[in-house]
Amino acid sequence: MKNYLTIDDLPNLDNAVAEALTLKKDPYKYNNIGKNKTLGMLFFNPSLRTRLSTQKAAQQLGIHTMIMNFSNEAWALEFEDGTEMSGLRSEHIKEAAAVVSQYCDIVAIRAFASLTDKESDETEKVMHNFAKYASIPVVNMESATAHPLQALADAITIKEHSTIKRPKIVLTWAPHPKALPHAVANSFTRMVQKLDAEFVIAHPDGYTLDPKITKSTPLYRNQEEAFEGADFVYAKNWCSYTDYGKVLRTDNSWMLTAEKLKNTNHAKFMHCLPVRRNIVVSDDVLDSPNSLVIEQANNRTFSAQVVLKKIIENG
Ligand code: CP
Repeated sequence: MKNYLTIDDLPNLDNAVAEALTLKKDPYKYNNIGKNKTLGMLFFNPSLRTRLSTQKAAQQLGIHTMIMNFSNEAWALEFEDGTEMSGLRSEHIKEAAAVVSQYCDIVAIRAFASLTDKESDETEKVMHNFAKYASIPVVNMESATAHPLQALADAITIKEHSTIKRPKIVLTWAPHPKALPHAVANSFTRMVQKLDAEFVIAHPDGYTLDPKITKSTPLYRNQEEAFEGADFVYAKNWCSYTDYGKVLRTDNSWMLTAEKLKNTNHAKFMHCLPVRRNIVVSDDVLDSPNSLVIEQANNRTFSAQVVLKKIIENG
């Protein structure tokens, strides 16, 4: 594996999950594999989990880290080819990516969607230009359309908490006052489609995800119907994809509550965090023993550790 830009870059999801669970039992087993190697972590957006878990993963493999809040500490980047750079952008991606490649052995990047221009967001300008102009592997720490480190952590968590061979997994839209990207929902969907699981998505009108992602996954407009018999319920807000970037509703009728989970198979609750309490999900669900959110955050370390290890092993 050279780059980790989407969950599809993993050669085999089941093997990656198994390897992560082995690493979790003995996190420092390969603490020499990254000796004298440096991971550059470039953040165009804020983070708690991704930053600390990826740094921790690197540390457990013996990799040094260099972290930069690119959006406010670095020169503003130009991405257009052949442009006369007379505006506010001081540095071209060609030089920036080549220069970062001199100092680092791997570069990890977080660069969210603009949510104003669907076509531009879907080109994954930041991630793909780094992958094009850097001479080192690139890891996606959440881009415009994908969050594959989160999806791998979610796969690890589902594996750990599955009590039956073929669980029912529901991804449900939930309310949020702000427009949020599709990255988590997209990568979770692509990941669960690879599992031996029954998978359905529930969302209100106007919130259909990219059909290139959902493919033949059943889509429900009735949340409680979708929840029937569920073993895992993953709540996430995303803005409208068709009416791109818009928040079409803010009422609480899609908020996840304990009452709505009554017809599930004692479903485990999942969310990538950060989560807005009593907007996305009620306290009684989030604080219940069935909530896996802290386990998911813990598994971000082993998700990143597997990815970094595979990249180093690839040479
Ligand atoms: N889930 C996740 O990516 O969290 P952060 O935005 O805090 O990194």
